[in-house]
Amino acid sequence: MTKQMLLNAFDMNTVGHIQHGMWRHPRDESHRFGELSYWTGLARTLERGLFDGLFLADVLGVYDVYGGGPEAAIRNAVQVPLNDPMLLIPAMASVTQHLGFGVTCTTTYEPPFLFARRMSTLDALTRGRIGWNIVTGYLDSAARAMGLAVQVPHDERYDWADDYLDTVYRLWNASWDDDAVVMDRASGVFADPARIRRVQGVGRYAMDAMHLCAPTPQRTPLLYQAGASTRGRQFAAQHAECVFLNGTSKPQVATLVADLRAQALHPLKVFVGATVVVAASDSEAAEKFADYRHYASVEGALAHFSASTGIDFAKLDMDAPIPSAPGQSNQSNVEAVTTRAAQVWTKRRLIDSFILGSRQPPIVGGPQTVADALIAWMTEADVDGFNLSRTVMPECLEDFVNLVVPVLQERGVFKTEYTEGPLRQKLFGHPRLHPDHRGALRVS
Ligand SMILES: Cc1cc2nc3c(=O)[nH]c(=O)nc-3n(C[C@H](O)[C@H](O)[C@H](O)COP(=O)(O)O)c2cc1C
Repeated sequence: MTKQMLLNAFDMNTVGHIQHGMWRHPRDESHRFGELSYWTGLARTLERGLFDGLFLADVLGVYDVYGGGPEAAIRNAVQVPLNDPMLLIPAMASVTQHLGFGVTCTTTYEPPFLFARRMSTLDALTRGRIGWNIVTGYLDSAARAMGLAVQVPHDERYDWADDYLDTVYRLWNASWDDDAVVMDRASGVFADPARIRRVQGVGRYAMDAMHLCAPTPQRTPLLYQAGASTRGRQFAAQHAECVFLNGTSKPQVATLVADLRAQALHPLKVFVGATVVVAASDSEAAEKFADYRHYASVEGALAHFSASTGIDFAKLDMDAPIPSAPGQSNQSNVEAVTTRAAQVWTKRRLIDSFILGSRQPPIVGGPQTVADALIAWMTEADVDGFNLSRTVMPECLEDFVNLVVPVLQERGVFKTEYTEGPLRQKLFGHPRLHPDHRGALRVS
């Protein structure tokens, strides 16, 4: 059978996520992000389009690198105001049956015991539809918010994360046996203490506890990761079942994917970020794109990109090469546009690359054109699917569901119905971690 495309909507509990300035469009409703009906409506649309999941990004700080303060981010609604993504999930799960939810949580600032319990609760409430995008954080503002003077250094954050993962694996997989809950009304035994044990933390995490939650459908949430530096890829190969990459060129992404697949100790699905502007025909899509483009914010895009790289672009000359920053933020972004990149990058060139308010160039066209472009990414870069960034909400996703999904189905590259079972079952054919996965191997 032809390889089946996986689709996630990529979103955040905020106004401006990736394509900055789109909130100014008269039809955009992202300012409604504080209303439950905005999210339940989105969840219903995605399930109507048989999307595999809604992937929710998150950060724990404000973007205050550009111009030395948060003003540009605040003015342009660049991921601020920003609400908690986890709290949206039960409401969206209650109006859907199959849609998965990938939620971003950092390993750097919260004790593993508390986090593992919240994830188990969501896995139970969603009947196994929860995924976790494992991030280590990249903002000094988040470190300061959590009482640290500066961030934990880049590679060391991943060392912490290795210990964090090994600790939560124990809570999820080794504390309760599958048959620990007996619920025997006659004898008065709800759960059998002999089938439940305390587990210990790993490395820097001191912990001695039994997990408070009984086994849930997946036990371990489906594991996503999105760090593309050398150390980030090493981490992904050990832990991630799904990897999320950004990239503007297919050969560059193909190289990263080959490296990840060669290192991974277990089956891996790779998603690439994409933005789609679609309409009934190529010419109508071009018109829609021109309309959207009118609202793109260069200042918003610079505020976001400064925070991702740790480079204050407000200070840079338009035509000078962007100097490499040895900082502690997102190293894969730094590698892409500084003197560490193969080509010379300047601020002017960077601004020219911000087409709809970010560095992610949109795919623009009628349904057949968009389908061709997505299929080309799958074949040429060996990715399994896409995390679709939003533009004007909710029309961008409604357009995709109404126009592109039927064409992908006709081409035989997209499912016509969901398979039953938890999220991991749908993507990998088994509800629990693969037996070769580090979390299944190192649990005792
Ligand atoms: C496509 C993509 C999406 C990301 N989403 C988030 C996010 O939602 N929250 C976050 O804190 N970090 C996010 N990150 C940052 C990474 O998880 C990672 O912390 C950062 O990229 C630094 O790691 P690296 O240098 O290995 O890339 C994302 C990174 C990429 C490439």
